[in-house]
Amino acid sequence: GKDIIILAIESSCDETSASVCKDGKILSNFIANQKVHEKYGGVVPELASRAHMQNIVPVVDVAIQQAQIQLSQIDAIAFTYAPGLIGSLLVGSQFAKSIALALNKPLIAVHHMQAHVLANMIEERKPDFPFLCLTVSGGHTQIVIVNSPHDMHVIGETLDDAAGEAFDKSAKLLGLPYPGGPLIDKYAQQGNGNRFSFPEPQIEGLNFSFSGLKTSILYFIQENTKNNPEFIQENLEDICASIQQRIISILLNKLKKAAVQTGCKHLCIAGGVSANSGLRKAFQELGEKYNWQTYIPSFQYCTDNAGMIAITGYYKYLAGEFSPYSQSASARAEW
Ligand code: KG4
Ligand code: ZN
Repeated sequence: GKDIIILAIESSCDETSASVCKDGKILSNFIANQKVHEKYGGVVPELASRAHMQNIVPVVDVAIQQAQIQLSQIDAIAFTYAPGLIGSLLVGSQFAKSIALALNKPLIAVHHMQAHVLANMIEERKPDFPFLCLTVSGGHTQIVIVNSPHDMHVIGETLDDAAGEAFDKSAKLLGLPYPGGPLIDKYAQQGNGNRFSFPEPQIEGLNFSFSGLKTSILYFIQENTKNNPEFIQENLEDICASIQQRIISILLNKLKKAAVQTGCKHLCIAGGVSANSGLRKAFQELGEKYNWQTYIPSFQYCTDNAGMIAITGYYKYLAGEFSPYSQSASARAEW
């Protein structure tokens, strides 16, 4: 049969990305990061929308060139419709709809969190259904049971902050720039995670909570800098390693519980925080200990990217799950 070529666009937060996939194989995954937010210590929605406006045409152009295809070969256009910053989502969705109209091709609306999960279907080695996915990003922390690309359910999630927020807010308390997650990861690699002990919250079931950790770090810093203003600088690596170790144990203890409850033996992680080297290592070690098959997307498919939108679009294409040209974007959305 004929090859199926999907063009995908992701613009839910502060990365403008476009990808081309052919028969489920990613040919290009181009990501433009937005530097403007750094000096504000977080993503400024208005500035993100403007940067997407500037980036979207060149980013799509590069993705098409890198994939070495012609626009006319595209069979469908996939885009992130939710959840995210509404102004950012609108830029990507309007552009996707315009291309679909111009090429007279079907449109495929993709849920960003489902796409993070299905990033695990990009590599040659894929998990068997049903599998569990721990999705950890800047806005979400979820345990998802995936029965098929079209049938997945959230069985646990955070009651307050997301894991990425826990990293970023901890980093902010330590005086590190935004986004602090990757910096905590970097310092933690040189530190001793057993040096300082932060509490593990006792939350029932498969849900998570990170707000208590943030508060305990705040008190810890206040207490220790009272008599030694240099405390953070002098112990930065051990502090980062200890915070990271606690975040990882909170995440993996719940994932372990979910695996026992569901009987799933194929486990995945996904989302920006799955780029964390400590989490990747601890997750793989857990898999070896319990005889689970573990899967982690390669780095470029962990943080926000259009490759994951393309692979999700591909599965939706195969199932005939198309959207009307009137499809809107939404800041929040149920699955
Ligand atoms: O999935 P993502 O790129 O965007 C959202 O959809 O939120 O996730 C971004 C989050 C940020 O909180 C960032 O600090 C965190 O992922 N992150 C990391 C690492 N790389 C990204 N956190 C810890 N260690 C990392 N290496
Ligand atoms: Zn994301």
